Amino acid sequence: MHRLQMLKDSFFALDAIQRQLVVGSAVAAGAILAYVLQKRRQLKSIPVGEGWWRAGEKQLSQDEMIYPFQVQTSDEEIKDLHERIDRMRYTCPLQDSSFHYGINSSYLKKVVSYWRHEFDWKKQVAVLNKYPHFKTTIEGLDIHFIHVQPPHRENQRVLPLMLVHGWPGSFYEFYKIIPLLTENHDGIAFEVICPSIPGYGFSDAPQKQGFDSLAAARIFLKLMERLGFPKFYLQGGDWGSLITTNMAQMKPQCVKGLHLNMFQSRNGLKVLLTIAFGRYLPFLLGLSREDVRRYFPYLEKNLYEILRETGYFHIQATKPDTAGCGLNDSPVGLAAYILEKFSTWTDLKNRELEDGGLERKFSLDDLLTNVMIYWTTGSIVSSMRFYKENLKTNIEKRIDARTGIFVPTGLAAFPGELMHCPKSLAQIRYRKIYTYTFMPRGGHFAAFEEPQLLSSDIFEFVKKVEKF
Ligand SMILES: *[C@@H]1O[C@H](CO)[C@@H](O)[C@H](O)[C@H]1NC(C)=O
Repeated sequence: MHRLQMLKDSFFALDAIQRQLVVGSAVAAGAILAYVLQKRRQLKSIPVGEGWWRAGEKQLSQDEMIYPFQVQTSDEEIKDLHERIDRMRYTCPLQDSSFHYGINSSYLKKVVSYWRHEFDWKKQVAVLNKYPHFKTTIEGLDIHFIHVQPPHRENQRVLPLMLVHGWPGSFYEFYKIIPLLTENHDGIAFEVICPSIPGYGFSDAPQKQGFDSLAAARIFLKLMERLGFPKFYLQGGDWGSLITTNMAQMKPQCVKGLHLNMFQSRNGLKVLLTIAFGRYLPFLLGLSREDVRRYFPYLEKNLYEILRETGYFHIQATKPDTAGCGLNDSPVGLAAYILEKFSTWTDLKNRELEDGGLERKFSLDDLLTNVMIYWTTGSIVSSMRFYKENLKTNIEKRIDARTGIFVPTGLAAFPGELMHCPKSLAQIRYRKIYTYTFMPRGGHFAAFEEPQLLSSDIFEFVKKVEKF
């Protein structure tokens, strides 16, 4: 008590300026302490955990064999599709609405007519089967994947690389990049593994609540272990980006490198400062001219545009089963829902085009094959539920948001991606960025749209990691 009194007396003996200095230093010390504590709270890795996703009790003895699998179809399946398409109920688009109200239904009618009369699913099934498919049971679910080896060459190092798709895509997005990745680049070639996320395409759908990106990450880590890879590379966009990031957080010792074509930072002071001052003081905040061009005007690009384009997200994160019923019942509805995303997420400007610019980057065969993977497996509802499971808790507070990523990371920033994330902000989460590339063109479905650009960037990144 006496000491406190002395401290108080001596404080008031100081003049005003000195007093301010003392208070200022105390505040600064507090801020530094808070920063250090926050840093310490930031975790280095996250627990792998366990799960069981088939209905009922966990089975003790589990079959860990890997079985070859082939995509199949039947005349019955095709006949049912055609009958449903023939009963399509057409909606007239508004005058001059292009793709602003969603898919232009006159254009959709053209696509559907192609689907009904020219698209050859049997032929596309043969295309799908040109790579070897497998299934294996993990946590009660049959997990589907393709596994492609490069041809044998002298003096070639073969590196395992897992590519993970997102929504509303599939393993088929990677069919054009696989032959590029299995080519030899300066003595390196990849052995490629592309799984289907549980609930997507040919992987079983979880039958219990709670299957989020962390669960998917754990299952894919187990898959890599089962395939006998102690160390490997990962690549992802969309949900694949979060899943592969989670894999790197769970078992950093197994992940030689993580390459992403979609990535985000975490909210914090630096993000706020960048939003507020980045346009005027870019160099102080570590922004390049290209960052400024892609990031600002902030509200227009990162708020209004996001609101305009993410109605689907809100639906799927809240009531996926309701909208899903209609989509799982109608092939035309399903195609409309999925194809609109392939238009807008490739380039926002596609909304101005009467045909959504869909065939500028993709063939109808490729687009419809992806739709058919959802249709024939009846997986649209389970694919949509993944949003709800991931957003059940505040995604910013989840353990993976509070954990850094310490494996070598390569980031490819495609200009058509909905949100730009500058390197200076990506660094907050991804602590070891080896490469960050402003890609010259392309959008959200990078592998599907620009296989050449993406594969070159992956090779550049991996060569850099291997050199270290
Ligand atoms: C919809 O697409 C069709 C076919 O591409 C086109 O002729 C029509 O003008 C478009 N309608 C609108 C409202 O943009």
